[in-house]
Amino acid sequence: MTDVMRESLSNIGYIASGVLFILSLAGLSKQESARRGNALGIAGMLIALLATAMRPDFSGYGLLMAALVPGAIIGGILARRVQMTSMPQLVAILHSFVGAAAVLVGLATYLGQSKPMSAAEHNIHLGEIFIGICIGAVTFTGSVIAFAKLQGTMSGKPLILPARHLINLMMLIITVGIGVWFFRSSEGGANGLWPLIFAIVITGILGAHSVMAIGGADMPVVVSMLNSYSGWAAAAAGFMLENDLLIITGALVGSSGAILSLIMCRGMNRSLVSVILGGFGTAEGTASTATAAQGEVRSIDVAGAADQLRQAKNVVIVPGYGLAVAQAQHALSDVVRSLQSRGVIVRFAIHPVAGRLPGHMNVLLAEADIPYDIVLEMEEINEDMPETDLVLVIGANDIVNPSAYEDPNSPIAGMPVIEVWKAGTVIVMKRGMASGYAGIDNPLFFRPNTLLLFGDAKKTVEGLRNALSQ
Ligand code: TAP
Repeated sequence: MTDVMRESLSNIGYIASGVLFILSLAGLSKQESARRGNALGIAGMLIALLATAMRPDFSGYGLLMAALVPGAIIGGILARRVQMTSMPQLVAILHSFVGAAAVLVGLATYLGQSKPMSAAEHNIHLGEIFIGICIGAVTFTGSVIAFAKLQGTMSGKPLILPARHLINLMMLIITVGIGVWFFRSSEGGANGLWPLIFAIVITGILGAHSVMAIGGADMPVVVSMLNSYSGWAAAAAGFMLENDLLIITGALVGSSGAILSLIMCRGMNRSLVSVILGGFGTAEGTASTATAAQGEVRSIDVAGAADQLRQAKNVVIVPGYGLAVAQAQHALSDVVRSLQSRGVIVRFAIHPVAGRLPGHMNVLLAEADIPYDIVLEMEEINEDMPETDLVLVIGANDIVNPSAYEDPNSPIAGMPVIEVWKAGTVIVMKRGMASGYAGIDNPLFFRPNTLLLFGDAKKTVEGLRNALSQ
């Protein structure tokens, strides 16, 4: 095959991959088409690899295989083994790889031979390298810290240094100064290695410091922001390598991560600017002032809860993190079918940040073959709460906490929640009185229309299934 043919085929492959990635994102936006979206993404990536290997200037097949084969095997094994509840950690560490790759590509591009360029092109090229390396270093260290926090190897508490915004600003100003030094040093050749190394160190500290300052329930937004950063780091690498597909893919990841962050910010009532600045999640200097919820808790047993379910005409189920931990979704699916066969209207209410990753509950319910048309978003179902006879809250806590609306001092004040307390009766299924991810009390448990069904969700849901089948 001639070089011209290889080049043309490779370009066609890149265009096909770009289209497949866009179709993949479109498919992933709906549950019904998510599997197809995934398959299209995998096909796009395979074509991208083949198209890259086909380029006339590519000869490192041995190196490619040495990186690709072990990487694919390790990645495949880890992804198969990971629990759904640990997915945010996996995603965070994968972002760190993209950041590290952007830094390494930047260094290699700078030190490697470059084709002859005009002075203007040379300066643009230097700019691409510097920006790519800085974004890559922020993404790398930020993602490693996010991984350590989510994995529990590091405390999830925010590290609030005095004048931390000033420290971040100083680091940014120093990075700009290093950038000037880098351009000056690179005038007569590639003599800017030291400024590049300093830039990596400073932006690396900036990334780590920004994420260290974030804590508690705000981590999911951070993971999504780092997803966005990793996309921009990949796009920067694409500019350095003059690879259009990498630019397209990076831009898709960067913008979709930013949009997801926006959606999650809305779900948690945070502003995106405060996310980018870091250090949000705890108002500085104010300890959690949520008023300790007090009062009497009324509990119910499985038989009593099954009776209540039998009598209800209209039931809403609110799944949360505990359902995922207990893996009770299959038993729950049987409960739903059993209720439906008795003529009870059953629907699910999904909070945008229920569980530990975006779409966590949707995946869980889809796994148990629960039909999509009874799975509704929080905004769709909240207004129906006053007409609902019974709400079953399974392993959820923060997402049904009324203090988000009623206590302006609550750390989750203003966060939209599922308004379960407006229903006739609320049965909350959890093991004890422990708080949720945000670590705060929940006055819902003490409301007169709330009953607690204590126990591991798997046992209690199975108990309900058995009681209802009698
Ligand atoms: P949480 O508020 O974390 O509450 C989960 C509850 O489940 C706990 O109170 C726990 O109480 C109970 N539980 C745990 N294991 C259980 C089991 N085996 N059986 C029965 N119950 C069990 O969960 P949520 O309501 O889903 O809210 C999600 C929280 O996570 C939010 O604060 C959100 O901001 C945060 N977050 C979300 C994401 C995304 S993107 N979804 C990512 C990271 C963090 P007991 O221990 O008493 O049983």
